[in-house]
Amino acid sequence: MRHRLIVPGAIAAASLLLAVPASAAEPSPGSPGVGDPYYPDYGNGGYDVSHYDLRLTYRPKTDKLAGTATLLATAKQDLSRFNLDFALDVSEVRVNGKKARFDTSGAHELRITPAAPLAKGEKATVVVRYQGVPSKVEVNGFTSWHRTEDGGVAANEPEAAWWWFPSNDHPTDKASYDVSVAVPDGTQAISNGTLQSQRSRAGWTRYNWRSRAPQATYLATLAVGRFDITKAKTDSGLPIINAYSKDLGEHEGAARASVERTAEITEWLEGYFGTYPFDAMGGYVPNTDTTFALETQTRPFYSPDDFADGSNTSVVVHEMAHQWYGNSVSVKGWKDIWINEGFARYAQWLWSEDQGEGTAQELADYAYASHPADDPFWKVAPGDPGPDNQFHRAVYDRGAMALQALRNEIGDKDFFAVLKGWPQLHKGGNADVGDFVAYAEKVSGKPLAGLFDTWLYQPSKPASKAAGTAAF
Ligand code: ARG
Ligand code: ZN
Repeated sequence: MRHRLIVPGAIAAASLLLAVPASAAEPSPGSPGVGDPYYPDYGNGGYDVSHYDLRLTYRPKTDKLAGTATLLATAKQDLSRFNLDFALDVSEVRVNGKKARFDTSGAHELRITPAAPLAKGEKATVVVRYQGVPSKVEVNGFTSWHRTEDGGVAANEPEAAWWWFPSNDHPTDKASYDVSVAVPDGTQAISNGTLQSQRSRAGWTRYNWRSRAPQATYLATLAVGRFDITKAKTDSGLPIINAYSKDLGEHEGAARASVERTAEITEWLEGYFGTYPFDAMGGYVPNTDTTFALETQTRPFYSPDDFADGSNTSVVVHEMAHQWYGNSVSVKGWKDIWINEGFARYAQWLWSEDQGEGTAQELADYAYASHPADDPFWKVAPGDPGPDNQFHRAVYDRGAMALQALRNEIGDKDFFAVLKGWPQLHKGGNADVGDFVAYAEKVSGKPLAGLFDTWLYQPSKPASKAAGTAAF
């Protein structure tokens, strides 16, 4: 849409630029999105958040969440106004201590006009007071707050934050988090990172969580309910904190038999991906009726359904693999989702091989053979699947086949060097598919554009020859 406006506007803008030196430009509003082609209005322009401090109270009976978010931000331009992404009700906003005007200009946009414009490079403390019943707030027809018998959970991808804290909701703006949540005694609040403390007073228990490493907004999580929290330490001294709903029923055994193996699995993953990038780990299983898992940072979210058939270490491998591929190294845009899902799936194939349940090559061959050429599966390009197919099976399975093809093309030594080098190269940052292709070419010294074009971008089943593998 913007393109249509640019043609006449560009002439006026160009002549204005000639007349007025840049330094005298008026402060302008930050854009209401970062311009991700899949989700143009997700995230916001004009500022960068370095830290979120969320101090909340949650009442399981009524599903009412209330509290204050304090954001530490830096203006990236002279800023007259800026947006946060948020869907609950806001009662007050302050910027650098002063009350700011605000309105909700879209279903998930909170538009803030500070009393005085912010200068480029200026630090801003943004305080938002809010409340709401997140399970009742629908945006585009859905909510990512999953109500349970005894509480609720924020989990979805890419939209999870809107229902519990105001944010710059895009993986390109990562920050550290302090999440402090008071819940009625007997109820627990689970979030990312380390549990700094837990204090009871007058019928309420406050849980103080800290997530220190840069964390994307969709990877921040909050779960409230009646949980059994288990605490242990890894051999290298990192806290392992797991939480299981007290109402998992027949799924409890399988859930524990899987999630309790998180440290062992993480140690095994370190052999492929290098040192675990965070300072805590674990997993939690609320009693939701959801049917997915999510790699919430340091502490993945699992659904009871993940354990319906018995133990499922494979899902733990998948979510913990994301701690390197997706969380420490995040996508630049949502089109890069293969960098998350293709690699997390491939890690599951490596685990299968380790467990004597089929090699990665056998699983790649099986996936290749189980989708005939006319299967719409092959229409989805894992390298740019489109917003509607971001989590299509092809992103996972064809995405992992692409890695098997790469492995066969460049050999095990270089392939595993790439797998281990990448998380180190981009630790705590963002990267895209092009960056990965360039890195694999650099490590192997081979041109790989053709192989990746075949496996990631063509809307058709790759011929066995194009795979660069005899086995296909
Ligand atoms: N990253 C998640 C996983 O692969 C996928 C989440 C999909 N989101 C959803 N609401 N189903 O584990
Ligand atoms: Zn995944």
